[in-house]
Amino acid sequence: MPSSADHDVRPASPLRVGDSVLDVVGQTPLVRLQRYCGDCTPTAYAKLESMNPSGSMKDRAAIRMIEEAETTYSLEPGSTVIVATSGNMGLAMAMVCAVKGFRLICVVDPKISPATEQCLRLYGTTIVKIYQRDSTGGYHLTRLERVAALQAEYPDAVYIDQYDSPANVAAHTASTGPEILEALGGHVTAVVLCVGTGGSSMGVARFFRKHSPATEIWLVDEYGSLALPGNPGPADRYLNGMGTSIAPANYDPPTFAQFVDHVVYVQAAEAIQAAVAVARSEGLLIGGTGGAVLHVLRDIAASRYAAGDTIVGVLPDHGSRYSDTQFNKEWLSVRGIDVPELFSDHASEISP
Ligand SMILES: Cc1ncc(COP(=O)(O)O)c(C=O)c1O
Repeated sequence: MPSSADHDVRPASPLRVGDSVLDVVGQTPLVRLQRYCGDCTPTAYAKLESMNPSGSMKDRAAIRMIEEAETTYSLEPGSTVIVATSGNMGLAMAMVCAVKGFRLICVVDPKISPATEQCLRLYGTTIVKIYQRDSTGGYHLTRLERVAALQAEYPDAVYIDQYDSPANVAAHTASTGPEILEALGGHVTAVVLCVGTGGSSMGVARFFRKHSPATEIWLVDEYGSLALPGNPGPADRYLNGMGTSIAPANYDPPTFAQFVDHVVYVQAAEAIQAAVAVARSEGLLIGGTGGAVLHVLRDIAASRYAAGDTIVGVLPDHGSRYSDTQFNKEWLSVRGIDVPELFSDHASEISP
């Protein structure tokens, strides 16, 4: 039996001391999923990207993209940056812009979670919300039209396109990938990642192809996303941050198959059910896209691997961000997403 002292809150390694919040981005922990993946043959880990300071893995890419733009466009305090975002990149950029003294304009759509929108306001971000769906049923193309209009209105502003950005990909090749391989002593059998702009997945995939080529890369997307080659076509999507209504250049279709071994499409209900299950088994609060990763990791990928193998899921953000959306009874019911376990609180079993 471990004594209670074994779980005292103390750093596993020396604490980092930063000159600004930007110095403490990354180096996120991995947690073994012994309970959620109790029946899995391989050993499974989750990388908790919610431990980044603005709450998601987007911090890594935001720093790199803004620093690149500083060099390319000679940004200086007072300069204006424009980004189109589902939410997390907006928060990450707002964090970087706060430190550097830049003004930020975020073009968002109605799928943004109210908590994220409120935090963007807290950062002083200018929020431009578009409501019109594009020809694919998503919002991305309408967001881009609004970006073009803003660029005409603010000719000195710099638009950072996270969908076509070697810096977005490179941030994860330089940090997320190496962190996983190093933390697990160089033995990683498979990594499961989300599909969005392609920054995190292709960045990690590129790192592993070079430094651990046998590691299999699994990408998880929501049905209805048009991000990847061979996608099943447009449909309504509900997992904020996952999927796109365009094919981001970051996936580089001609070389995509060299880096990615498996692609799996999921339904929102499966993803949210997995997020509920991991909260109740491991105590981990994660967003729906992390749930999608864990659904694929445990229910599809794990059976392909043997005892002694190690599989890792990269979980983009924290579940608290979605208390009014993906984990809200009314929100789910309006969209016809069935997650009965979310509302089984065992209240009837407790005597008054
Ligand atoms: C919650 C969440 N999951 C997944 C993704 C996809 O990540 P990427 O854009 O690196 O492909 C994002 C991106 O915005 C996100 O916010």
